[in-house]
Amino acid sequence: METNRKDYALYIEDLHTGFYNRVEDKVSSVLNGITFGAERGKILGVVGESGSGKSVTMLSVMGLLGPNGRVTGRIMLDGENLLDYSDKQMREIRGGKIAMIFQDPMTTLNPVFTIGDQIREVVKLHRPDIEDANAYIIELLREVGINDGERRLKQYPHELSGGRRQRIVIAMALAGNPDILIADEPTTALDVTVQAQILELIKKLSETHNMTTIMITHDLGIVANICDNVVILYGGRICEMGTTREVFKESAHEYTKGLIRAVPGAVPGRKLIPIEGVPANRSAFTNECAFCPRCEKAMEICAGEFPPETVFSETHKAWCWMNHLPESKEAEHDG
Ligand SMILES: Nc1ncnc2c1ncn2[C@@H]1O[C@H](COP(=O)(O)OP(=O)(O)O)[C@@H](O)[C@H]1O
Ligand SMILES: [Mg+2]
Repeated sequence: METNRKDYALYIEDLHTGFYNRVEDKVSSVLNGITFGAERGKILGVVGESGSGKSVTMLSVMGLLGPNGRVTGRIMLDGENLLDYSDKQMREIRGGKIAMIFQDPMTTLNPVFTIGDQIREVVKLHRPDIEDANAYIIELLREVGINDGERRLKQYPHELSGGRRQRIVIAMALAGNPDILIADEPTTALDVTVQAQILELIKKLSETHNMTTIMITHDLGIVANICDNVVILYGGRICEMGTTREVFKESAHEYTKGLIRAVPGAVPGRKLIPIEGVPANRSAFTNECAFCPRCEKAMEICAGEFPPETVFSETHKAWCWMNHLPESKEAEHDG
C-alpha cells in the first residue's frame, strides 16, 4: 500500500464500482478508479453533480450496493480492507465504526417503530457497555437540539417535522459512537432555514465527538462553509482534490472553475451561473476526460486520453490537460 504522510481515518484506493445488468449480461461501470483519503478528525466534502457517483462511492464503503454491485480496489480502515470483510463484519462496521446519514431521514427510520425503540436497537447492537440506554439516548437527543427527549422517544417518525427527524437520525448515528460519519446530502430534503442549522450541528458534533466526517453534496457553498478538504467527482472519476482553500483559490480543473462560478454568493450579488451542457452519461465513458464535451477549453487530446495527474501540493491534485500544455509551444509562438 502507498504510504501516506497524512493520517487518514479512511483511505479509498483505486475503487472501481459497477452494476451487473442481467438483461444485457454485462457490468456497467459507475466509478472508474477513485483514490482519496478522509483525514482523521476533519470534514471532507465529496462534491459532484447528480449522477456523478457520490452515493455509489459511499455505498461501496458501507457494503450496501446490493446483489448487483461489483467492486474492486481497496477501502482501508484501521489497516484492513473492508472489501475483504464478511457480511457479518460489515454489519458491525455499519452503525459502529462508520455511521451514515441519508438525504431522506425516512430511509433510516422505520415508520412502524417509535423513535425510542429504534435508537435503543442501535445502542444494544453497538454499545452493549451502556447500562442506562434511555438516559444515554436522552443525552444524545439533547446534543442534537431535542430537549424534550423523554416525550420524543415515545413518538413515531411521522409525528415529527422533517428537520426534527433528521436530528433524530443524527442522534442515532452518534449512538454507536462512530469514528467516521458519512452524510449523504443530509440537508437536501429540508427547508433552507433548517438546512443551515443541521449543517452547523454536524460541524459542531464532528468536533465534539472527534469524528472524521464525509459530507456528500452537490453544493459547493456547503463545502466553503464547513469542509476542510474537498474531492470533486465528475463522471465517476476524481477531477480535482485539495484543501478547501486550494480548490477554491487555486482551482486547476475547468469543471471546478465552472462550479465555483456557479456558487451563488461566491461573489456577492452574482447570480447562479449554471454550467453549460448535459452532465456526463456514464454509459458514454471511454478513456477520455468525461467533462470534455462540456468544456470550453477542450482540446483534441481531451477526447482521446484521460489526463495525467498534476500534483500541486501534498494535498492538491488535478486531472486536466490544461495543466499539461507544453510551454515549448508558447515559446514557439513567441519566437
Ligand atoms: N443499483 C444500481 N444499479 C445500476 N445503476 C446504478 C445503481 N445505483 C446507482 N446507479 C447509477 O450510478 C450512477 C451514479 O449514481 P449515484 O452515485 O447515485 O449518483 P450521485 O452522485 O447523484 O449520488 C448513476 O448513473 C446511477 O444511475
Ligand atoms: Mg446521491
